[in-house]
Amino acid sequence: MKDIHERIQALKKEKNAIILAHYYAPPEVQDVADFLGDSLGLSKLAAGTDADIIVFGGVHFMAETAAIIAPGKKVFAPAPDAGCSLADSVDAASLKKWKEAHHDGIVVSYVNTTAAVKAWTDYCCTSANAVRVIESLPADKEILFGPDRNLGSYIIKTTGRKMSLWEGVCTVHDVISPEMIRTAARKYPDADILVHPEAQCSSDPEILSMENVFFYSTAGMLAHAAKSGKKTFVIATEADTVHQLEKSHPEKRFIPLSPAVLCREMKKVTLEKILDCLQNGSGEVVLEESLRQRAMLPIRRMLDI
Ligand code: 13P
Ligand code: SF4
Repeated sequence: MKDIHERIQALKKEKNAIILAHYYAPPEVQDVADFLGDSLGLSKLAAGTDADIIVFGGVHFMAETAAIIAPGKKVFAPAPDAGCSLADSVDAASLKKWKEAHHDGIVVSYVNTTAAVKAWTDYCCTSANAVRVIESLPADKEILFGPDRNLGSYIIKTTGRKMSLWEGVCTVHDVISPEMIRTAARKYPDADILVHPEAQCSSDPEILSMENVFFYSTAGMLAHAAKSGKKTFVIATEADTVHQLEKSHPEKRFIPLSPAVLCREMKKVTLEKILDCLQNGSGEVVLEESLRQRAMLPIRRMLDI
């Protein structure tokens, strides 16, 4: 393990490369990353870095998003086959058809989509800024929100804004039911329960009104744990998020809602594959320039809000 760490560090230095990783990446990948973040934070980091090479410890759409945002850089996906049930639930042709059937409503797509879908999107959003993006749009316009129907339902409930929803789900978060949250609240009455809005329970009125339940993107959960006076937190998102929470706050207790809430696609990223990217240039994400420019527009609009 030490040897592979050293080889990765040496190659990073030699090639002016950085490793970005999502909080759902395996713990050993999180530990070699220069920067960790949620989808929004990582997009901003990719846009701002002066490194020549970005190796993205996450699923494919994340590396693709970095390649859209950072055209002058080489972007590598260590596990190009790492997919996402949300990104897989919608393709460009179906989105175009949906838009046409709704008299050209405004299309807001979660960043968990392919570049081809972003190219037919008006605004991107992430779980960290979705409410802000929706609230910035003109009230008289129809909004078509996709592909995550759970995040969409959560936004409808919290903003009161009507939207048409695409029927996609994150199969990892969709198992998080209202009953699981109620059970955790009974078992840990002194804990704050931090829930990702991709969860199935995120539009349940009872769960939304519970005093100790808070909805956050993964980075929002870290920020909440840092400022809260509580000692115990139930983490209702991908279980490996606890790795970083424990490292940042060793004096606090973080309990994954269920160890089964695990994104197997994220676990396809390994240290060996990261080394292969740096050493042999495997997994480079290459986008056709006109597609990249069209896909950039909704991301730029999002980052400007
Ligand atoms: P965030 O990174 O916005 O918290 O989204 C979680 C997720 O499921 C990413 O795939
Ligand atoms: Fe996609 Fe869900 Fe995995 Fe995130 S956790 S990459 S949304 S399948």
